[in-house]
Amino acid sequence: MERLRRTQTDFLCEAAGGPETYDAEPVREAHLHVPFEPADIERAVGLLREGLAAFDVPEDDAEAVVEAVAAYEEELLDSLPG
Ligand code: HEM
Repeated sequence: MERLRRTQTDFLCEAAGGPETYDAEPVREAHLHVPFEPADIERAVGLLREGLAAFDVPEDDAEAVVEAVAAYEEELLDSLPG
């Protein structure tokens, strides 16, 4: 859990423009063993948006982060079996 917090924090920092960089597994590989539905991705992005708003991140910055993360949707869908 501690490691996941760190790698996800790095990931979000990089998505937000750095200077922190993400150096764990590529998103597709990291989720190969994770069972989820496509709708869970929307839920994850929605929670991210809510979190950014709760901490009063300016709308433009928040949108840029949300878009950068949402851009991984295809990679995630690609990790689903079949
Ligand atoms: C845009 C959506 C998402 C992004 C950008 C994302 C990104 C990440 C990143 C960066 C990690 C860390 C990988 C590592 O430490 O090597 C991670 C791990 C994980 N994610 Fe996601 N994720 C997304 C959606 C989801 C969804 C929808 C689920 C399931 C409902 C999920 C479940 C997990 C789990 C269980 C791990 C831990 C895997 C492990 O360490 O064994 N993620 N994710």
